Amino acid sequence: MRNVILIGFMGAGKSTLGKKLANAMDVAFIDADLSIEAQQGMSIGEIFAKHGEQYFRELEREFIHNLYSYHNPFVLATGGGMPCSQANMLSLRELGVTFYLHRSPKELAHRLKNAKSERPLIESMQAEELEDYIYGKLGEREEFYRKADFILDRNQQDVKSIRDVLAILHPNPSQRS
Ligand code: S3P
Repeated sequence: MRNVILIGFMGAGKSTLGKKLANAMDVAFIDADLSIEAQQGMSIGEIFAKHGEQYFRELEREFIHNLYSYHNPFVLATGGGMPCSQANMLSLRELGVTFYLHRSPKELAHRLKNAKSERPLIESMQAEELEDYIYGKLGEREEFYRKADFILDRNQQDVKSIRDVLAILHPNPSQRS
């Protein structure tokens, strides 16, 4: 079984869907942000405040590197910035089947408006600034996100759609004609 990797902007729903999917597939669920927090003994906010964003990006890079020695199948929810380098995106695509959870800036802004406090990049932004920021940042990041194997629109971001894709990629041998 191939691993499943969910990518997309903050607030796209990677962790929520990832947990459900891992449960349905009976495999491990890995939340990149939570794993980094546990390793560091600090919240993402504290890591940014104490060491800065570049340091956090280095931790993300190491985290991906360490996934190569993880031998059980998994569903991974990445952080929003994790796929945004050529090297990281290449590695994520080697490690599993990648799905980009696509949502519009307007929708992301709406979903994030009450979920800013744990996200240092946007925590101090007001509603209007937030939507402009998302619009700009998403513009920069989409070149990476769109390298995913599959791009799911909001009406496809569910367990069934992903399992249907996986079944086509890796049919159950007993069901092959
Ligand atoms: C970030 C997204 C966050 C977290 C960090 C930086 C980003 O993860 O990794 O705050 O750069 O987009 P979520 O996408 O889970 O919010």
